[in-house]
Amino acid sequence: MPLVDTKKMFEMAYKNGYAVGAFNVNNMEITQGIVDAVAEEKAPLILQISRGARKYASMSYLMAIIDVAVKENPDIPIAVHLDHGDTFEICKQCVDEGFTSVMIDASSLPFKQNVDTTAKVVEYAHSNGVVVEAELGQLGGIEEDIEGVSSDEVSKHLTDPDQAIEFVNSTGCDSLAVAVGTSHGAYKFKTVPKLAFDVIEKISKRLPGFPLVMHGSSSVLKEFKDLINKYGGNMPDAMGVPEEAISKAAKMAICKVNIDTDLRMALTAKIRQVFAENPAEFDPRKYLGPGRAAIKSMVKHKLNVLGCNGKAAECL
Ligand code: G3H
Ligand code: 13P
Ligand code: ZN
Repeated sequence: MPLVDTKKMFEMAYKNGYAVGAFNVNNMEITQGIVDAVAEEKAPLILQISRGARKYASMSYLMAIIDVAVKENPDIPIAVHLDHGDTFEICKQCVDEGFTSVMIDASSLPFKQNVDTTAKVVEYAHSNGVVVEAELGQLGGIEEDIEGVSSDEVSKHLTDPDQAIEFVNSTGCDSLAVAVGTSHGAYKFKTVPKLAFDVIEKISKRLPGFPLVMHGSSSVLKEFKDLINKYGGNMPDAMGVPEEAISKAAKMAICKVNIDTDLRMALTAKIRQVFAENPAEFDPRKYLGPGRAAIKSMVKHKLNVLGCNGKAAECL
């Protein structure tokens, strides 16, 4: 089965009350860990590529790795998505390179410019059979090299439901990333956050069936934070989005949940542990292998949190 877009995944996710995991890929081991997890859990999958990932590994290496994953897993619907595309040109390039979904993130621009930029991307992408995610509202943390609002400010920059309706109707985008209290990176919050479920509710009442996306949704798992700190790391104040809140959002109109930081932390924690316990080790397979296994088991757990385990077949 070739790469798929996200239409069917989102239709089923919305209808059956779950969300599809969108995981960032930067190299082979990260991709394999994620794909092995969805293969075992029989879950639909969105693999996403950021600007940083393209700079690090190059688009063609990442696409070739994903191509192998798709060929080896014919029963798993896999979409390849551009994460935080900030210009029409990068979205066009990714459409032309075979992505099945692109994100145009013009959320830092004034409303009218966000609408115009998004509409232009939608026109090009749709004429090439590619779906478009847009963003309205501002998340906290760091988005690529765009600095978002500070975590304390997160709740003041939530997506306005009235604007969201107008935005979706005027752009024709296929899904919308909303600011509902999540934040990018490992240092999201100082206290346990409360997500704005009322914003999700208000939008979904007026746009029934329309898929919403939650970025910045890593939970910054204590297990990995503790391992990192135990083995020489320094991430004392890291705090993420509680998994119960993610499960609750997934049962609502949130159909795609973005996770990157939790992958990074799983890999880093395992590698640090191997180095600390075996200081003589220098074979990359001996630390990247356990790192990949840690990603796999973390992703399997996340698929259960999202409720998309066992849902691959209905999304094909
Ligand atoms: O939202 C941002 C993602 O975590 C990607 O980050 O640009 O460092 O790859 P990156
Ligand atoms: P995290 O930093 O919470 O993993 O968010 C990733 C993300 O939103 C990618 O677009
Ligand atoms: Zn994001």
